[in-house]
Amino acid sequence: MTDSSRRLSVPAHAFNDCYLDCLTAPQRHQLYFGGAGSGKSAFVAARCMLDALCGRSTLVVRQVARTLRFSCYNEISKAITRFGAQEHFRMNRTEMSITCLRSGAQILFAGLDDVEKVKSITPENGVLTDIWVEEATETGQSDIQQLEKRLRGLSRHTKRLTMTFNPVSRGHWIYQRFFGAFADDRTKLVTPDLLILRTTYRHNRFLTADDRRAMEAESDRYFRQVYTLGQWGEMGDAILTRVKTEDLSALFKTADVLRCGLDFGFAKDPCAAVLAHYDRARKRIYILKEFSAHSLTNDLLADRLRAFAPGVPVTCDSSEPKSIAELRRLGVPAYPARKGPDSVLHGIQWLMQHELIVDTRCTQTIRELTQYRWRRDARGNALPIPETGDDHLIDALRYALEGDRLAAYAAAQRR
Ligand SMILES: Nc1ncnc2c1ncn2[C@@H]1O[C@H](COP(=O)(O)OP(=O)(O)O)[C@@H](O)[C@H]1O
Ligand SMILES: [Mg+2]
Repeated sequence: MTDSSRRLSVPAHAFNDCYLDCLTAPQRHQLYFGGAGSGKSAFVAARCMLDALCGRSTLVVRQVARTLRFSCYNEISKAITRFGAQEHFRMNRTEMSITCLRSGAQILFAGLDDVEKVKSITPENGVLTDIWVEEATETGQSDIQQLEKRLRGLSRHTKRLTMTFNPVSRGHWIYQRFFGAFADDRTKLVTPDLLILRTTYRHNRFLTADDRRAMEAESDRYFRQVYTLGQWGEMGDAILTRVKTEDLSALFKTADVLRCGLDFGFAKDPCAAVLAHYDRARKRIYILKEFSAHSLTNDLLADRLRAFAPGVPVTCDSSEPKSIAELRRLGVPAYPARKGPDSVLHGIQWLMQHELIVDTRCTQTIRELTQYRWRRDARGNALPIPETGDDHLIDALRYALEGDRLAAYAAAQRR
């Protein structure tokens, strides 16, 4: 690795072989994707550190700021220790910045949920030359486009946008934008502007035997495909296949028929809310806003909801009558969902009859909707039961539209 003033030597054995060529790859867009535990994040983290020694400044982003400290910041800090380069760096964990004392370059961190910070963050010296988007499938296309605008300004270094991610679904915008020339059996694509590298746990010699066994033992078809084999997730089992993303800011200003739903959660699961516009005539549901948060007490939740959906009745998960009463006392027009037998399945079937158009900023909802799948039995047959877990915003959406669904059933019965 060279720098105009001095040479640094990097021991090749500190890297997994498949990544060595990528240390100095110049492509503007670089996509490191594949299975879990394939060393993607560890590689890009180590490269950020080496880049800083060579005078390149990187902005590391993830959708949610809170998650950066425990992922990318730690990974880079581990790489600095692994290379014994502590004396060359000043770490500021509170401000989340890492400064290279040799070159003055910096590694900075921002969550896309902190829009102002992302817009304004700049290194103390020079310009940003690199952006690393970790878990890039969490991020919407418009956010990435905004980010790319940050890669401007004069620098002797080429500018690069690097993304790391698992191939969660072929319906994802990243697949549609970048993978036209990348056949499923390929592991690498190199053009002047684009580098794509697919890796799996097999490429990572730093894993323990236990790690490997766990990856190989994965029995769920989808998880095996995406996280063990690093192949794009198939939509075959997808429940909601008519999901589109659009910039809905204009609609947001004029939409009249607004629905809000809330799924309670606290420690393990987040509480989640969506604001939707229902177009009954066209059978379209527009998802305008989302939020999900952990550890919100009911008074804080009430504050969030009042700002989130002013004056809109909120249909809530009925399992927490006490919370609903508290929200009402705090001025939120909260009502329990009626649920009833088979309401989950009916709610999903009703959603399936609609086109779902999601604002590009609602990245968590997009993820949940596109990954929502039917469960399979031991023989691999699809069951009429959705996989649960990553479905809090979908639950909120079902609650939001429960009144419309029940009204439609009642009308159908009168006919
Ligand atoms: N070059 C490396 N040196 C040391 N450990 C590594 C290296 N590459 C990967 N690892 C370890 O392997 C594990 C999985 O790597 P990670 O980068 O998190 O995978 P991915 O991001 O592909 O899911 C981590 O515990 C990481 O520390
Ligand atoms: Mg990773």
